[in-house]
Amino acid sequence: MPSLILPPANRTACELASGAHLFGSGEAINADTRPLVAELEPVAHSLAHGRYQSPLRYPGAKSALAPIIGRVITAAKQSREVPEINLLVEPFAGGASASLRMIGDGTVERVLLADADPLVTAFWQTAADDTERLVDRMHDEWKRYVRDGGQKAVERWDYWRTWAPKPRMTPRNRRLATATQCLFLNRTTFSGILHGKAGPIGGRAQTSAYPIGCRWNPDALEDRLRYIGHLYNTGRLVDVWCKDWRQTLDDVPEYYPQLLPSRVVAYLDPPYVEKASHLYRASFDPLGGYGGDGLGAARPSDYTLHLSLANYLRSKAQFRWLLSYDNHPTLTESGWLYAPDQMTPSQSDRKVLGVRCWRISKRLVSTRYSAAGRVGKRPAEELLITTLPPATVPIDEDLRVLESVRT
Ligand SMILES: C[S@@+](CC[C@H](N)C(=O)[O-])C[C@H]1O[C@@H](n2cnc3c(N)ncnc32)[C@H](O)[C@@H]1O
Repeated sequence: MPSLILPPANRTACELASGAHLFGSGEAINADTRPLVAELEPVAHSLAHGRYQSPLRYPGAKSALAPIIGRVITAAKQSREVPEINLLVEPFAGGASASLRMIGDGTVERVLLADADPLVTAFWQTAADDTERLVDRMHDEWKRYVRDGGQKAVERWDYWRTWAPKPRMTPRNRRLATATQCLFLNRTTFSGILHGKAGPIGGRAQTSAYPIGCRWNPDALEDRLRYIGHLYNTGRLVDVWCKDWRQTLDDVPEYYPQLLPSRVVAYLDPPYVEKASHLYRASFDPLGGYGGDGLGAARPSDYTLHLSLANYLRSKAQFRWLLSYDNHPTLTESGWLYAPDQMTPSQSDRKVLGVRCWRISKRLVSTRYSAAGRVGKRPAEELLITTLPPATVPIDEDLRVLESVRT
């Protein structure tokens, strides 16, 4: 049995995310914070180096960017400041493609996934902690509804689209059903979009050459679900949190102080500045997502949510971070966003929380991006912004310096 490093304080069930438990997705997989497994065994699974590891086809997934992110993090580990990364935190996890890749190839030792959408986190929590029951549900949905396609499959799609958890279900069963809903809709909806106007693959009439089940390969899904269970059982996947990004970033130092400041890194992939309202239930867009973030009438009518993230990362973050964004000019031009070249914490945050004045580096990366609603892939540019040691952040044809930016 591997030994455990206990966290300083255990959280209680009263801290479950408000509303999240209705979906069966508690704030963490169990009521208490999960301690870190100290003696990790090598990741022994055939998918560890696989091309596709995530069971979700996520809009805006960073599978194409993941190798570049891996390079930046590996380069940082050559420095004295960040010799090893014991924990990678992904507060906007979505399909978690970057984390899964980096845990599989050994770039980082452990990952912690978090997202504000309880549908998505119920999926990851169940895949991690209740793997076999989710594998069974996946096969069952396939055999009974999806495999033969046609109207029966579309009716099942309608069922899951409107399904809501019943109050009398046990938390565990509610979470399993929500995870099944997430997986079903993700594999059978156009572009993997979980909400809004996106319809079933192949259309309601199912006359297309691509029927509703064309993205549902039960054997491959079984393998990927078991891989998530394996990562959780071996302590490589530390936990799955259903939290707003800020809560995640605030809680990591409290739960895992032994990793501060240099043995934990956050990889953040927030909703894009443009188009995100069409893709996610929880989005930063003034138009809103599809309601999963519970902001309701409190949703700001401008880009305040992007500004709050930037403000936090520039002045409050207690560990190093790497951020990917769409290459929107405002992001690197505005002093309120990421134009500054250095973090500027207040005197008191420096003193009390130990927040550092790390340098901020920016790079431009070209990828092939497939946006929801578009057929095929088109060239796109992503911004990478990071407080990893600047001398280690590569500059080459894959990671270009922005013309207007010096670092
Ligand atoms: C660009 S996607 C992440 C995609 C992911 N990197 C991948 O490879 O699949 C952004 C994610 O942020 C989540 N999100 C939106 N607002 C959030 C918030 N306030 N806190 C945490 N997560 C949020 C959305 O639910 C969505 O899953």
